[in-house]
Amino acid sequence: MIETRTPSLAALFTARSAARAAARRAVHGPAPYGEAMQGSTPRDLGPAGAQALLVEVFEPSTDRLAHSLGVGRRAEHVAHALGLPELLVTAAYLHDIGYAAAARDTGLHQLDGARYLRRLGASDALTSLVAHHTSALTEAGERHLDAHLRGEFPPPTDGELLDLLTYCDMTTSATGRTVTIDERLECIYDRYAPGHLVSRSIHRAEPQLRHIVSTVDDRMRLA
Ligand SMILES: [Fe+2]
Repeated sequence: MIETRTPSLAALFTARSAARAAARRAVHGPAPYGEAMQGSTPRDLGPAGAQALLVEVFEPSTDRLAHSLGVGRRAEHVAHALGLPELLVTAAYLHDIGYAAAARDTGLHQLDGARYLRRLGASDALTSLVAHHTSALTEAGERHLDAHLRGEFPPPTDGELLDLLTYCDMTTSATGRTVTIDERLECIYDRYAPGHLVSRSIHRAEPQLRHIVSTVDDRMRLA
């Protein structure tokens, strides 16, 4: 059920967003993986609508916005190279929306983001990717939210898309640049003290994250 305090995607896609999306298309051409949602059907959210939503919920010139846009662009490149659906690109743009003030609740950004998108009417396929990206269950365990995460958002049926989303996140810097996983991890460990919950979670997940990145890197080289 949609909460009354939460604006619908239709409301969020205001004339201001539409104008921004139109300006973006004027600069960059048509969105390669789908057009912006026209404000009537939340499940029509695609990459262009996702970008418009990001601009609504994140302050301009912040790292969160720059990183989210960078991960989205990285996913556009990966999706194009590997012939993958635009769902990957949409999920990439929105993967960190749980950090937005409008979405923040439990502190587990994957869960908060997925819940927020669900309230906006996003599909289960999209919310499950956002809910489980970048070893979410590891941090969920640290926060004693793993049962909530698993119960509310079963892991995606397509594990390939989830790994590719994690790949895009782990090879994009905090400011949106493409980086190696070594650079990305170093940045995370710099940002969070060694005993910090996020630092501990990423450290525990590091072998899995490195395996995902290495596997996708190999695949991209052959594409
Ligand atoms: Fe991210």
